[in-house]
Amino acid sequence: MVLCDDYGRPVTNLRISLTPRCNLNCIYCHAEGEVAPRDEMSLDEIREILRVAAKLGIKSVKFTGGEPLMRRDILDIVRAVPPGIESSLTTNGTLLGGLAQGLKEAGLSRVNISLDTLRTERYKEIAGKDLLPKVLDGIQAAIDAGLTPVKLNMVLLKGMNEDEIDEFLALVRENKNLILQVIELMEFNECQMHGDVDRLEKEIAEHSQEIMTRRMHHRKKYCMDGAEVEVVRPLHNTEFCAYCNRLRVTSDGYLKPCLLRTDNHVDIRGKKGAELEALFEQAVKAREPFFK
Ligand code: 5AD
Repeated sequence: MVLCDDYGRPVTNLRISLTPRCNLNCIYCHAEGEVAPRDEMSLDEIREILRVAAKLGIKSVKFTGGEPLMRRDILDIVRAVPPGIESSLTTNGTLLGGLAQGLKEAGLSRVNISLDTLRTERYKEIAGKDLLPKVLDGIQAAIDAGLTPVKLNMVLLKGMNEDEIDEFLALVRENKNLILQVIELMEFNECQMHGDVDRLEKEIAEHSQEIMTRRMHHRKKYCMDGAEVEVVRPLHNTEFCAYCNRLRVTSDGYLKPCLLRTDNHVDIRGKKGAELEALFEQAVKAREPFFK
C-alpha cells in the first residue's frame, strides 16, 4: 500500500527530526519548522514509527534535527530502520568525522551536509562557530565510508556566499561523489539575505544540459561540465508543493503535514500499532499544497 492525500500526492518519504538541539546557531535556520516544547522521542518511539511507516508504504526516511548526530543513540536509531526503507540524514557535518563509518555499517545510505561557505570567517559568521575544518573532515569521512552521493546543501545568501559558486562548482567537479544542492532561502527568522537564485539558475541552465527534472522531489537537476547541481526553490517553483511526497515527524512526536504550517500537527506521542496507523492516515488527509 501507499499513502495518498486528497490531492493525489503519494506520501512515500518520512522526515524525522531526532532532536531540536544543535551545536551551531545558523543565522537563517528554519529548524525544520519546529517548536519543541516536549522531550525528544525515545529510540523505542522512533522504532515504532518506522515500523508503522514501513507497513504504510514509506520508502525513504531522512533524519534531521536540530543536529541529528547529537543523539547518543544515533547508530541504534539507524539500525532500527526496517528493510525496505532507505535511510539518509541531513547534518551540519561537524560531528561526522568520527561517525561516518559507523553510520554506514548501521545501514545508512547517504548524507546531506549543510555547507554554505568555504571561507573560515564567513563560516563563523553564518554558523556562529569556527568549525569549518571539522565539516570538511566530515565530508571526507562520509565519502570514504561510502555515504554517497554526498549532497552539499548551500543556502544562497545575499552578500555572503553568492560569489563562491564557482569554488563550489570546482569542488563538486573534482569529486564525483559530491552533488551541489543550491537552496533558496526561506524566511523563518529575521534573516532576509535572499540570494538571487533566479539569476544563478539561469546561468547554470545556460552552461549545462539539464539532465532530468525530478518532479517527485520538486527540484531541477543540472550537469555542468561534470559538476552535478540541483536547485531547490521552495518559494518560486509552482511544482514545489504539487510534487511534495513527504510527511514530517517533529522531535517531540507530532506528525507535521507541511513544513510551513504549525496549525495541523497530529500528536502521536506514545501511540502504537493500529492507533498510530490511523493517525498517519489522519495527517496525510490533512495535507494541502501550501502554494497552489
Ligand atoms: N531556508 C532554506 N533552507 C534552509 N535550511 C535550513 N534553514 C533554511 C532556510 N531558512 C536547509 C539547510 C539545511 C537543511 C536541513 O535545511 O540547507 O541543510
